[in-house]
Amino acid sequence: MPSEPIAAAGSPQLLSLRGINKSFGAVAALMDIELDVAEGEVVAVVGDNGAGKSTLVKVLSGVHSADSGTIAFEGREVTISSPAAAQHLGIATVFQDLALCDNLTVVDNLFLGREISPLRLNEVDMEVRSWELLRQLSAKIPSVRTPIAALSGGQRQTVAIARSLLGDPKIVILDEPTAALGVAQTAEVLNLVERLRERGHGVIMISHNMADVKAVADRVVVLRLGRNNGDFRVRDVSTEDIIAAITGATDNVVSRRSAARGTGQGPTQETDAS
Ligand SMILES: Nc1ncnc2c1ncn2[C@@H]1O[C@H](COP(=O)(O)OP(=O)(O)OP(=O)(O)O)[C@@H](O)[C@H]1O
Ligand SMILES: [Mg+2]
Repeated sequence: MPSEPIAAAGSPQLLSLRGINKSFGAVAALMDIELDVAEGEVVAVVGDNGAGKSTLVKVLSGVHSADSGTIAFEGREVTISSPAAAQHLGIATVFQDLALCDNLTVVDNLFLGREISPLRLNEVDMEVRSWELLRQLSAKIPSVRTPIAALSGGQRQTVAIARSLLGDPKIVILDEPTAALGVAQTAEVLNLVERLRERGHGVIMISHNMADVKAVADRVVVLRLGRNNGDFRVRDVSTEDIIAAITGATDNVVSRRSAARGTGQGPTQETDAS
């Protein structure tokens, strides 16, 4: 279902995918995928289990390379052949498992593998930089000397997002950033996504949670069975229409229950588990 990008008139386009295909043996995980992300735009990517969301993230983060199709980054055609190549371009990914070291402190995790001085660790500079970064994100972290193990899920997500920003990326990809979080922590992470938008980053947020998508995304791109199945401006689309695009039906159990409850949101809460 080819569609004109409806992104952010005026904001420069950061990323444009066209005709992206990726198969694993006989399984076609992505077929003819399009995706556009502009500066300062939050694009939610939604879809049922197996729709291809994680595969798309992995193509963009250099974990998998696409079999065919084009990726333009800031108007230039690029190949993303490795995670290092993605980072070098300015695409940072916060994977769902966050990949933080529980026994290390916040500051150690932030700078793991990229200690400020190439010759020696400058603990003071790293600590100052950590505070600056967390303050810019309005993050609620008690101390940068706290071990990760002592932080809440939302605080960990914050640290992982902060770490992704150290390379000064143009695009930040968040894979299910709120899936494991409670209400207050979810609100904190959604605030963080808004900070990223204010700072001009393009954000791609994978999500199962329609309330989160409605709360924070500018656009929502629906994948279904490895294909594009909708590209909506969030303010113009109902939760039911998004769900219909996800399930491939305009009348289905989920949307009927949703309509019956008259909330348009309730049942999506129950499909959050991923
Ligand atoms: N490394 C792999 N090898 C073989 N098949 C894979 C591999 N990764 C993904 N697939 C297949 O590709 C399809 C898309 O999977 P993907 O993980 O991208 O879906 P998803 O949208 O992220 O789903 P979920 O919501 O369950 O995380 C599925 O059929 C999956 O089984
Ligand atoms: Mg996935």
